[in-house]
Order: sequence, then C-alpha cells, then structure tokens
Amino acid sequence: MALPTKDQVTEKLRAVIDPELRQSVVDLGMVRSIVIADSGRVEIVISLTTSGCPIRSHFQQAVVDQVSSIEGAGEVVVGFDVLSSDEKQGLQDRLGRSKLPDGALAMVKNVICVASGKGGVGKSTMTANLAAALQAEGHPAGALDCDVYGYSLPRMLGVNRKPEVSPERKILPLDSPSGVKVISIGFFVEENAAVVWRGPMLHKAIQQFLEDVEWGELDYLLLDLPPGTGDVSMTLAQLLPQAKFLVVTTPQPAAQSVARRAAEMAGKVDLEVLGVIENMSGFTTPGGERFTIFGEGGGQRLADELDVPLLGKVPLQEELRESADSGLPLVINQPNAPAAQAINAAARGIIAATPVDLPVMQAAAVGMPVGAAAGGTELPVVQAGPR
Ligand SMILES: Nc1ncnc2c1ncn2[C@@H]1O[C@H](COP(=O)(O)OP(=O)(O)OP(=O)(O)O)[C@@H](O)[C@H]1O
Ligand SMILES: [Mg+2]
Repeated sequence: MALPTKDQVTEKLRAVIDPELRQSVVDLGMVRSIVIADSGRVEIVISLTTSGCPIRSHFQQAVVDQVSSIEGAGEVVVGFDVLSSDEKQGLQDRLGRSKLPDGALAMVKNVICVASGKGGVGKSTMTANLAAALQAEGHPAGALDCDVYGYSLPRMLGVNRKPEVSPERKILPLDSPSGVKVISIGFFVEENAAVVWRGPMLHKAIQQFLEDVEWGELDYLLLDLPPGTGDVSMTLAQLLPQAKFLVVTTPQPAAQSVARRAAEMAGKVDLEVLGVIENMSGFTTPGGERFTIFGEGGGQRLADELDVPLLGKVPLQEELRESADSGLPLVINQPNAPAAQAINAAARGIIAATPVDLPVMQAAAVGMPVGAAAGGTELPVVQAGPR
C-alpha cells in the first residue's frame, strides 16, 4: 500500500482548528514538522502558543483522528513544542492582535452574543435567564456582561464582588446562585461610578474578559451586548469569529426593523445569526385576557426575513422583572411561569441548533476581520490572597 504523502497529511491538518484563534493549525503556521516513516508511521510536531496550553489534548486527538484516516497511515504520533517569540510576534502581527490567547476560551464550546438594535427590549433579562436555563438543562453556562455603561448582570444573576485572580494571573468568574459563571464590568468599578470608556479601552476590556478569565469548561458562554451595534460587535468578531448572534426584539414593526440592523451588523462581520427571540409579546391578565401591548408578529417577521428560527415568544410578566431585580432568574425561581416556560423552550432551541463537538473540529472561519491592535488600560483586578 502506498505511503501517505506530506501533502495528504497537510490537507488533513486543515481540519484541525485552534479553538481560540479559530483557524487551522496549517494556516496559523503551527505545523512544525511532518515525518513519514517507511512503516507508515506518521510523526507530527505542532507548535503551541504556550507550553502549558490547556488544549494540548484536543490538538492531540484532532491530529490523530484526522491523519489516521489517510489510507496507508500507520501509527500517528503527535509531539508539541512552543512557538519562538519571533514566531509568536509574527503571528500576532498577522492576526492584528496585541497578544495571543493562551487557552482561556479553549474549553468554551459555544459563544452566543445576545444583541438587539435598540435598548430596553430585554437582552440582559434573556441572557441571565437563558444562561440559567442552559445550566439547569445540564449544560454548564457562563454569562459575560459586555455592556460597560449599563451593566445589569450582577443584579440579575445575584452576584457582585471583586473577582479573585488565580496564581496563573487569570480572573476567576463569580459563581452565581443559579450556577452560572458571571463576569461583569460592574465587579471592577465602584458602584454607580460613571466610567468614561474610549473605544480602545472598551476593546481591551472585552478582550481581557474573554482571554484573561478562567472560564473553564463551558458548553455556552452568553454575551450580553449593549444596545445598538458597532464597536462591540467589531471587537467580538475579531476575537471570536465563530460566535453566533441571538437577536432580541419586541413584537412591534418599528422594533423589528431596528433589530434587523443588529442582524445586518452580524452579517457584515461574518457572524452567524442563530435565531430570534421575541420578548414582551403580549400580556395576559390573571383572568386570562390577553393584551398585545407592543403589537404582534414582529419576531416571526424578523425571523422569516433573516431565514432563522424564532426561538421563543416571551410574554410580559411582572414576575420576570421581579426575579431579575431580586437576582434569581425566573427560570429557576418559578420554572412553570409562562415567561419561564417560553425561555426554557428557547434554551432547548439553542441546544438543538448548536453543535456539541469539540471546537477543535469546527470548520475554519473565513474572512476573519483583522482590526487594530487593542490599546487602553488594564482592568483594576485584585490578586487573590492565599486560598
Ligand atoms: N417579558 C418581560 N416581562 C416583564 N418585564 C420584562 C420583560 N423583559 C424585560 N423586562 C424588564 O424590562 C426591563 C428592561 O429589560 P433589560 O434590562 O433586560 O433590557 P435590555 O435590552 O438589556 O436593556 P439595555 O438596552 O438597557 O441593556 C428590565 O427591568 C426587565 O426586568
Ligand atoms: Mg442590558
């Protein structure tokens, strides 16, 4: 039987994706060597960005799976080394990043950005409740507050203190009562302090939240976006080219057209829209009478226009607001409440629409936007004492 060729091996390695940089190890220049012995044994050395890379075993497995599928390939042996500082610098420059990630997000399977065109439609409420619902369904979930001006996750998920920093200098997310891991800018600033953020600082803060936080193994990381489009979406697209968008809208036509702009923004930066959630869709009195306070049908129309599923229609319900204010999401507090049921159904829709495979095997993102390097100041984090 013919021996595999180096080209065949390289072709197969194109399916091995760095889960953080979201490109193949071939395109990233991380394939150090390929040696094919007469026995068919294939030895491959992959260069990692850091020596203690927590995703080493994912690479190992992905390389073995891919390469051993080549006809004529015998044993596949994977070795690792680390990129030299020059090589790292070259890669950083090529990717337009101020530094390379070192595994913080590697074990996060799905990143979902909860967005809307306009404010106050319930993004934060949906983020908090969906994360809690996913967690309750057995899918470890985290919630990251990307709204640096109007952060609301500390209140909605019932946690607020300064996070500790691990000995490896990683910020540890806070565990909220619903089990969801949370990071918010609110944990780092004085209460109600007016923080003036310049664009690069915003970029830097979000990059730090994504890369310097020890998220650990999560099936879902939900990002609560600020209202509107723009800066934050650009940053996210650059850092997370495989994140997906969930668009929240109210039922009225005006909101739907604004929400479409958020979806268009996602499209512009090449991020996929996972689905639409219609919030505040009708109010039912205790007597059973239903009022369509914000109109009707906007969520479905938007979903049709975008050709994505309408994942849920969440009614107006005072308890949803009360739970959000009290720090325990309604899906945990009163899972049988109509709004909680609608959110649970949406969470199941998300589960159905997202792959559970290891991210190493996901297809490479195309056209990853390369933006300006981040600037700005470091977040004021505290070092953990002895634990
Ligand atoms: N279906 C609902 N029923 C009752 N109250 C709701 C519902 N959805 C959201 N709310 C309440 O409406 C208010 C606004 O919701 P939320 O803060 O989640 O919106 P947002 O889109 O995140 O706003 P912003 O654009 O300011 O970030 C909150 O007080 C929330 O509790
Ligand atoms: Mg909000």
